[in-house]
Amino acid sequence: MPEPRVYRTDSPEKTEELGEKLSREFKGGDRIALVGELGGGKTRFVRGVARGLGSKGFIKSPSFTIVNIYEGGRLPLYHIDLYRIGRADELFEAGVEEYIYGKGVSIIEWADKVPSLLADCTVVIRFSHAGETAREIEVAGGAG
Ligand SMILES: Nc1ncnc2c1ncn2[C@@H]1O[C@H](COP(=O)(O)OP(=O)(O)OP(=O)(O)O)[C@@H](O)[C@H]1O
Ligand SMILES: [Mg+2]
Repeated sequence: MPEPRVYRTDSPEKTEELGEKLSREFKGGDRIALVGELGGGKTRFVRGVARGLGSKGFIKSPSFTIVNIYEGGRLPLYHIDLYRIGRADELFEAGVEEYIYGKGVSIIEWADKVPSLLADCTVVIRFSHAGETAREIEVAGGAG
């Protein structure tokens, strides 16, 4: 496993650009955990990943409110946000794991709410505030 890589961005646009750049490393079947503070930039990062994969836009999952599906790019991207999930097994009862363990890339905000899921993620990206418009973004796992 390569050493974690630490980035610092000084604007939301730079965080999107980082997502765009790192998306080139993502492979089908990857599960990307996004963890860290509220307002850390996780959703902005996902926007950049979608752009980097060449996604044409997103649709809401027909079954799950916590899943947005980005299609038309190099790989399908499933954006999942667990912020409002209650118990861990809700996720599995609901059947969301068909996306998470599918052939596309899943990117999961607040993946640490479900420890067994976090342990299954191929890349873990941790966001923290480093000033009003600065964020520290640590990337562990993946291509390196
Ligand atoms: N360097 C930066 N990178 C990303 N966002 C930044 C940065 N500086 C300021 N911001 C602001 O911080 C906020 C980040 O919001 P975002 O929704 O991406 O966070 P989040 O981690 O998804 O939060 P939540 O945990 O609530 O889902 C936005 O309002 C954005 O404009
Ligand atoms: Mg968010």
